[in-house]
Amino acid sequence: MSPSLTRLKPLSALLEQAAHSHLKRTLTAKSLVALGVGAIIGAGLFVRTAAASAEAAGPAVIISFIIAATGCAFAGLCYAEFAAMIPIAGSAYTYAYTTMGEFVAWIIGWALVLEYALGAATVSIAWSEYLNNLLGGLIPFQWCHSPMETSAAGVHGLVNAPALLILLLLTALLIKGTAESAGVNMVIVIIKLSIVVVFVALGWQFINGANYHPFTIPADMAGHEGTFKHGWAGVLGGAGIVFFAFIGFDAVSTAAQECKDPSKDMPVGILGSLALCTVLYILFGYVLTGVCNWREFGTAGKEASVAYAIQHYMPGYHWLGTAVTVAILAGFSSVILVMLLGQSRVFYSMANDGLLPKLFSELQTPYKCNMVLFVFVGLFAGFIPGSLAGDLTSIGTLFAFALVCIGVWIMRHSQPALARPFRTPLVPLVPILGVVVCGGMIVSLDLRTQLTALFWMMIGLTVYFGYSRKHSNLNTPSLQAAAQTTR
Ligand code: ALA
Repeated sequence: MSPSLTRLKPLSALLEQAAHSHLKRTLTAKSLVALGVGAIIGAGLFVRTAAASAEAAGPAVIISFIIAATGCAFAGLCYAEFAAMIPIAGSAYTYAYTTMGEFVAWIIGWALVLEYALGAATVSIAWSEYLNNLLGGLIPFQWCHSPMETSAAGVHGLVNAPALLILLLLTALLIKGTAESAGVNMVIVIIKLSIVVVFVALGWQFINGANYHPFTIPADMAGHEGTFKHGWAGVLGGAGIVFFAFIGFDAVSTAAQECKDPSKDMPVGILGSLALCTVLYILFGYVLTGVCNWREFGTAGKEASVAYAIQHYMPGYHWLGTAVTVAILAGFSSVILVMLLGQSRVFYSMANDGLLPKLFSELQTPYKCNMVLFVFVGLFAGFIPGSLAGDLTSIGTLFAFALVCIGVWIMRHSQPALARPFRTPLVPLVPILGVVVCGGMIVSLDLRTQLTALFWMMIGLTVYFGYSRKHSNLNTPSLQAAAQTTR
């Protein structure tokens, strides 16, 4: 008989794994918020905000932030229940394996590759933009753009070399094993928060009220054809784009095992970092689109947009443009590290369950996994445009979030008696709203992104049926006996 697609990894096996963890419980709610902010603020704010306003929402990008944050809050409440209940690494993939079965877990794991690998690629591409801005545009167009891009002067891109360079440097750092230093993270978090606060405070006086009119993009604007490219639908389209800026808060849930009191600290860590970032993002988006007109973010100010706005519309503050660029480069590095780490953890969990080759779960030789990841992420960073990488990241993450929301609901029915240190309020309303808002953002993204994501899923299905299903640990007789299937 062929193995069932809905066979579940036994929860008892997971909880035992958690109980035998050697990780120290040192993290407090405050350190979790710092961890979250370190992973959250990055290219989404400093690159995608301008892109969302130029491509879909106009100055109403601040409302896009509110929509994206609402979807994240619903999903965050669901993540918090899982994270406090099953406090082990592996995130959404692990939760799904015990609630919705192997096949859905595989799909989530595959979607998480879009989140982490493509996320790392997107931020590396953004890093390249800001580096080139700092160097005064010294890098020739063809060496800092993908072959899918062409400059206004007709030059074709070849490879995004600076994006590959930063990935290589950070891979080397990961191999050395110094990446997870809480002290370094704290310094970077303070730098990032400072840039946002200083930009908002100093930029406020340069706001030109005329830039807010019209508030949403008019339907007849040339180059903005498409339902989700103008008006209030465009605001939803913008939410799908700036959603990228919130990705990373779920990384907090992967630290559940190191948390002093997961039942209290997890919800505070997840929702606290989300709330703090939302307020900062709205202020930042308001000032950015007030200082510089959103139309310019589609033309001259398309790249390194924040530096562009400062350099062109905040006379006397040229130093700020340079300082912000240097700080952004440092801030992006920490996000790339978190993404690469997240990716290796997901691959690790999947390989540990037998769904991917053992190469990814060999603790003795982690450099092999890191090198494979570098090549994998590098192919995206070097050869596709940042907008495609960013939107693919968003779609993969939104999909995983929606499935986590459904998982909480299923688990309430399948395992009602299980101890839940934190309970998602108002189930099933909150999970349903999570699915609706995240689903709305998926629908609002470009057709090109949706089709590429579908293609990615097809590859995933081929790997699952060609390899993973046959190699799954659940095929071993002892686990087979313990494994149930979904009802
Ligand atoms: N939220 C992260 C960023 O914006 C991924 O870079």
